[in-house]
Amino acid sequence: MEKIVIDGGRPLHGSIRCSGAKNAALPILIATLLAPGEHRLTNVPELADTSSTLSLLGRIGCPSLVQGSVRLDTTRIAFCEAPYDVVRKMRASVLVLGPMLARCGEARVSLPGGCAIGTRPIDQHLKGLEALGCRFELEGGYINGIAHDLKGAEIHLDMPTVTGTENILMAAVLARGTTRIHNAAREPEVVDLVHFLQNLGAKITGEGTSTLTIEGVPRLWPASRPYSIVPDRIEAGTYLCAAAIAGGDVEVTGCAPQLLEASLHKLREAGCHVEVGETSVRLRRDTPLRSFSARTEPYPGLATDMQAQLMAVATVAAGTSRIEETIFENRFMHAAELTRMGARIQHVGRLATVEGVEALKGAQVMASDLRASAALVLAGLAAQGLTEVLRIYHLDRGYEDLVGKLRGVGARIVRAPDTTDTDAMIEALDAADRADVSPEEEMAAGAPVSS
Ligand code: UD1
Repeated sequence: MEKIVIDGGRPLHGSIRCSGAKNAALPILIATLLAPGEHRLTNVPELADTSSTLSLLGRIGCPSLVQGSVRLDTTRIAFCEAPYDVVRKMRASVLVLGPMLARCGEARVSLPGGCAIGTRPIDQHLKGLEALGCRFELEGGYINGIAHDLKGAEIHLDMPTVTGTENILMAAVLARGTTRIHNAAREPEVVDLVHFLQNLGAKITGEGTSTLTIEGVPRLWPASRPYSIVPDRIEAGTYLCAAAIAGGDVEVTGCAPQLLEASLHKLREAGCHVEVGETSVRLRRDTPLRSFSARTEPYPGLATDMQAQLMAVATVAAGTSRIEETIFENRFMHAAELTRMGARIQHVGRLATVEGVEALKGAQVMASDLRASAALVLAGLAAQGLTEVLRIYHLDRGYEDLVGKLRGVGARIVRAPDTTDTDAMIEALDAADRADVSPEEEMAAGAPVSS
């Protein structure tokens, strides 16, 4: 196992290229099941979750090839099952339910169970699919679903669930007649899935609003052109928070700034200078951070996936920040770890109060989920001394080359085996620093150029 080691206190300068969005790529990879044939997708992030999704699709009978872009062959589906060992690692695999039922008339999917950030039920997925004519029974921790003749329906979701909307949408595109999903999720990743499905021939209107209207079609076809996944707004937001907490001047390129509005608003409130380009955002911070208030909400409100990173920023912002989590009931796991680094955080239920401290102190900390892990790395960038973030497999699920990207803007950060001691960590950080200096820079600094 590996850990991430950070020697904090260096401001960041330079640019970071944004990857494709994990939360759009996974549903879109799965949606290829709806149209038998060969698909090509570009801007798919290289992540553990992407590999898990492709391996799940492989087990179902759909092989893939990754070479810059992803090629997937969904001509044949051999097994309509998402087993426990896959769903347990990656909740998004529950998204095969809708497409399998629509295409094969049956599906067997392991129930995901609880996770670090809450109970996360899928009752809304099942309610919507039942309204379309699916029938389910629970057996040995699995949901067995059958669907003979899917018919369009009026579906009212109790909350605008992201994966719930996606699952129902993917079944409705092949149902007879019209489906309306009321109180649908408006997240950009849902919109990207709609655009992908439209390219396959699906008839969907209302994307980006809370009512999706779907006219079912008898079949879908792979698109003739490769589909490019939308940039990752959470990854972009995370690197902007890195620049905010560490200070400096960082430009995130290849992103979609209009999807980041809520996070940018908070970073401005915290005292950062934010300049928005067409596909880039530049953040400068050369004065002390100020406290702010944040409340997570469904899109276009502030993403719950940005809450932990903003909390890290708040730990060193002068004054008292208030952070409210309204989406998940147990998403403050990072608070206890940040406290180990000297942060002053109190939380009761869904409200956290963060009293800014002058400086954080490096420590050994444990990541509990994907965004919590990102928050600990951010805290490490600002902390005095060495921070070791353990259990980094969470980060590998959702951030493409996080260490390389942060090192590219000057952070002292490396991956090392869990057992590495302090001297060896410092040696590894120094070696990484030397490797990042180009021969031209070395020459400019008067150092001998190595061959
Ligand atoms: C997705 C994202 C996740 C993000 C979240 C909120 C993916 C793969 N994951 O997760 O990164 O944090 O949206 O933007 O895209 N709920 C129910 N019943 C249901 C479904 C949801 O009660 O059937 C509740 C959940 O417990 C939670 C809330 O609704 O409290 C929102 O969950 P949801 O939008 O479904 O999140 P996910 O789709 O799991």
